[in-house]
Formats: sequence, C-alpha cells, structure tokens
Amino acid sequence: MRHDEVYKQHFPTSQTDNSTSSAAALVALFNEVYTARLVLRRPQQGDGPAMFMVHGDPATNQYNLAGPHPDLAASERTLQRWLQHWETYGFGYWTIQLAYTKEVVGFGGVKHFIWHSRDALNLYYRFTPAAWGYGYATELAKTAVALAREYLPQWPVVARIRANNVASLRIAEHIGLQRHPELDAEHLVFALGWTSC
Ligand SMILES: CC(C)(COP(=O)(O)OP(=O)(O)OC[C@H]1O[C@@H](n2cnc3c(N)ncnc32)[C@H](O)[C@@H]1OP(=O)(O)O)[C@@H](O)C(=O)NCCC(=O)NCCS
Repeated sequence: MRHDEVYKQHFPTSQTDNSTSSAAALVALFNEVYTARLVLRRPQQGDGPAMFMVHGDPATNQYNLAGPHPDLAASERTLQRWLQHWETYGFGYWTIQLAYTKEVVGFGGVKHFIWHSRDALNLYYRFTPAAWGYGYATELAKTAVALAREYLPQWPVVARIRANNVASLRIAEHIGLQRHPELDAEHLVFALGWTSC
C-alpha cells in the first residue's frame, strides 16, 4: 500500500481570526502537521545531529554560497535560532520526518524575515540526498505555503532560488508561486502575496 493511501492530508482547524493570530494560537496550528507521507513538526532540543546530517552535507549546499555547516556546533546554533523563532512567533521551520518510519529526512517551512524593508515569510527546504526525487520537497512546500497563506495572509511568501537550482525552481513552479523578475538579484525571486509599492 502506498504511503499516501494511508495518511490523509490534515490541516488543523483555525481557532482564531486571521487578523488577531497570536503566537499561542499559531503554535496550535503549526506545531505538528501531517501531509500524505510526512510529519512536519516543531524542532526540538536534540535535533542537532539530524540538523548537521542535512546541513553539514556538501551535496545539500551545492547552491548555497555559505557552504555546509562545518561542524555540529554550527548546526546547534542554527537550531537554537529556529527554536527562538518558534517561541516568538508560534511557527517556523519544521523538522521533517517520514510518517511511516519517523526518520528525519529534512528541514523546511516558512519563517518570518524582513526583506526590502517589509515583513515577509521565507520559504525554505533542505532534504538529505537519500530522500531526493520522491516529491517530498514539493509536498512540504505546498503545505507550508497553504498554511502560510491561510493563517498568515498579512505576510507574503518569498522563495529566492539560484538560477541553476533546477529542482528548487520546479518546486516553486509546481506549488504556484509567481515569478517576480523585478526583485531578482543573485537569486530568482518567486512569491505569493507580494504587491508592488
Ligand atoms: C531542492 C530539493 C529540496 C528538492 O527535493 P526533492 O524532494 O528531490 O524534490 P521533489 O522530489 O519534490 O522534486 C521537485 C522537482 O524537481 C525535479 N528534480 C529533482 N532533482 C532534480 C535535479 N537534480 N535536476 C533537475 N530536476 C530535479 C523533480 O523531478 C521534480 O520535478 P517534476 O515533479 O516536474 O518531476 C533537494 O534537492 C535539496 O534538498 N537540495 C539541497 C537544498 C536546496 O537546494 N534547497 C533549495 C534552496 S532554494
């Protein structure tokens, strides 16, 4: 039986008005989300080694000028920043597990940032190479964007992608992000909800 026949897409029901979403209300919505084949859960202390497994791998940083994390301590620092974001906002990047095995295969989701002097949500995904090619990143990104647009509509979703990162470009296209060539710099820019001033 295929995984997606077992796990049905599940979005939690909103408990608050969009305009009054508090961190406490958002955390109930974002804390743990089930897609067809994945569990998207809030990162926790102890995820450092899995973070380093994904972020310390040169293959997952081919298009990242900053390069892979050099050591576990670097991944632990990133993890602490992500946990702090969750504390502040009630959502953030998830740790991504296969629903069947609970194996951690990647990290991703949306996180608040200031870009072009505006509040926005950065769309992010990074998976371990053994999990590439199964559509997991598309599944994650589609869910992250759907939740963001439903519960955080005041903030546009932005994806900044290197022109030669073909897989990432395909994901942006598949999930319906719109191209914004006027915002391109070193990355090609895709967004939803971004309005020109
Ligand atoms: C980008 C990344 C998340 C894609 O993960 P994935 O789970 O393999 O993605 P999917 O299986 O959902 O595939 C997405 C699309 O890219 C295509 N694709 C995957 N790998 C590809 C490759 N090396 N070259 C060209 N296309 C590729 C897939 O065929 C699919 O397109 P399709 O549905 O039209 O066939 C993964 O390669 C990764 O973690 N890379 C390192 C981190 C990174 O670059 N993150 C993005 C930063 S902007």
